Amino acid sequence: MRKQIVAGNWKMNKTFSEAEILITEIADALDEADLKNAEVVLCPPALYLEMTTDVAFESNFKVGAQNIYPEDSGAFTGEISPLMLKELNVSYCIVGHSERRKYFNESHEFLKRKVDSLLKNNISPIFCCGEVLPEREANRHFDVVKNQLEESLFHLPEEEFMKIVVAYEPVWAIGTGVTASKEQAQEMHSFIRGLISSKYDTTTADETTILYGGSCNGKNAAELFSQPDVDGGLIGGASLKAEEFLQIATSF
Ligand code: PGA
Repeated sequence: MRKQIVAGNWKMNKTFSEAEILITEIADALDEADLKNAEVVLCPPALYLEMTTDVAFESNFKVGAQNIYPEDSGAFTGEISPLMLKELNVSYCIVGHSERRKYFNESHEFLKRKVDSLLKNNISPIFCCGEVLPEREANRHFDVVKNQLEESLFHLPEEEFMKIVVAYEPVWAIGTGVTASKEQAQEMHSFIRGLISSKYDTTTADETTILYGGSCNGKNAAELFSQPDVDGGLIGGASLKAEEFLQIATSF
């Protein structure tokens, strides 16, 4: 059975001391929580990864990074490599988030390199895909998502693809308070699973975790997660409050 995951993408939020408090609050709450089979992943800013993995070691969650540079080492001032994260016991890394595609001009080809370098270091990419509003309005959303998967993921052999988590994040829903309806989410998730099935096979498609992201919160998570092809969420704003994040994580 495929994994259900709730991952918190903190983005560029929280000071060191605030992060310390939030991690502790989440870890304490997780001790009591009934997660069923779901896995919780925290993706704090890189500066807080070591502190987060230290807490995770004694707690019930995994740690993800928000970004890497796709080389193990070298003259890349300011960057962090997957090899460094591996030694910290980081399990996941977000790749292809719309903010990085937009503000840092990350191309399909560059994302493909990130995917490859993470897998080489045994870190699972949480690969984000999704359309902007004009693309949905022009009924191009399926083509856009298909292209994103084809260009950055579908070069992988099956055994490597099995380590990918896909996150469908319609860009118009990210940070806007406008959530995709459960029907819109299910429709796209089922489309993505179909693409994986055609490229690989039904077993691979059935085993792939596909998360929804975009204004997912304590109020709408249960409805979204009840859809047959929605296996959890990638949570931005609502992951910055321990109580609401826990509410989401226990929404299965
Ligand atoms: P949001 O962000 O939950 O604040 O909409 C989701 C994301 O960007 O991953």
